[in-house]
Amino acid sequence: MRDLTPEPGSLEPIETASIDELRGLQLERLRWSLLHAYDNVAHYRRAFNRAGVSPHDVRDLSDLSAFPFTTKEDLRDNYPFGMFAVPREQVVRIHASSGTTGKPTVVGYTQADVDMWAEVMARSIRAAGGRPGMIAHVAYGYGLFTGGLGAHYGAERLGCTVVPVSGGMTERQVQLITDFEPDIILVTPSYMLSLIDELRRCGTDPRSTSLQVGIFGAEPWTDAMRAEVEDATDMHAVDIYGLSEVIGPGVSQECVDSKDGLHVWEDHFYPEVIDPETGEVLPDGQEGELVFTSLTKQAMPVIRYRTRDRTRLLPGTARTMRRMEKVTGRTDDMMILRGVNVFPTQIEELLLDIAGLAPHFECVLTRPDRLDELTVRVERRDGALEADDSEHAAAQLCDRIRQRIGVTVGVEVVEPGGLLRSVGKARRVVDKRPT
Ligand code: DLL
Repeated sequence: MRDLTPEPGSLEPIETASIDELRGLQLERLRWSLLHAYDNVAHYRRAFNRAGVSPHDVRDLSDLSAFPFTTKEDLRDNYPFGMFAVPREQVVRIHASSGTTGKPTVVGYTQADVDMWAEVMARSIRAAGGRPGMIAHVAYGYGLFTGGLGAHYGAERLGCTVVPVSGGMTERQVQLITDFEPDIILVTPSYMLSLIDELRRCGTDPRSTSLQVGIFGAEPWTDAMRAEVEDATDMHAVDIYGLSEVIGPGVSQECVDSKDGLHVWEDHFYPEVIDPETGEVLPDGQEGELVFTSLTKQAMPVIRYRTRDRTRLLPGTARTMRRMEKVTGRTDDMMILRGVNVFPTQIEELLLDIAGLAPHFECVLTRPDRLDELTVRVERRDGALEADDSEHAAAQLCDRIRQRIGVTVGVEVVEPGGLLRSVGKARRVVDKRPT
């Protein structure tokens, strides 16, 4: 793999500014954002008044902790445009995320917001090893989902040649990768696995493509998966995080030269980690629920938005800004088996360590007899196992899950290609429990 560390001179000054400079900028922007939300969004005015807090009282970044949280339910209650802080005519773009139940969550952007988003996405792609002149294959979905258009505008802003393929039509994706010879691919890690399978099916060694870096996000994935993909493709695999409510992709990004967690672009999105039960702010280093406050967004400021994603904050390394550890999972994907919390990422890590198993898996929850049961369905790695050995691999995985996570689960090893492939976010948890 080629060294893709960006030239120091190509970074924005704020990326390497001192902590003091960064904190000063954040405080100034935080005051603006709180006031903007209070003055222009009825929901925030009511919520701040109810909590007895005023944006004028903020003297320090830590004063933010007195402000009320915002949740997905608040956004739903104000569906569709009630959280906008500018007249609708100034909103140049709408995105929405569907979620599993109820109405979608709607977000809006002014032209300045779209520009800021392109800037943080360009910054992300550069941190990932991208540079002007490279070809970027965008296989995140285009549409109401923020992945495709977010990646697109960022890659253009950086000066790349963008191939806006969107998700799906796997054969065509592979053809375009072969013919256009892109340097960068932006795609969910689970769909990358499908592309790797398809390349092999076409007789192309995935290590022989032109791709130098994959920017993977929109769903949780592990370091074990990084090793798997880097080994299969001979390209750098780096993590990108974001969510529609905060802006879309480009809230935080892993640097290609350190691959040690994702630097939060804190000059625009202020992070906190809280105890999800008590709401108390946790010190950096402790794991909890990630919360974001937008510092510069015009159309839809979010104040202390609860992401439901679990991670912890760590000091900066390749950049001044703090890092967040790879997200373990969303609260929504957490399974509770006899009191033990289990995330699909924990299963992923363990199964990738077993030679005969492929990285395609799903967690099926059932309730046969009042108690919840989990069955991990995982594919046999093509060519690696005789059918008889499947049982051995299943027993091995079952053992490791019992030892490391402390729960007993069923394991079913299925044939290669036996599980449904995603073209976007993988559905890791299949809940078959009666409602
Ligand atoms: O998934 C934005 C995005 C697009 C991020 C492309 C990265 C790449 P939503 O559809 O609103 O937005 O979903 C946001 O996806 O709260 C996390 O639970 C999950 N997620 C996003 N990135 C990661 C990641 C986009 N790198 C939700 N690791 C978030 C783990 C992620 N989970």
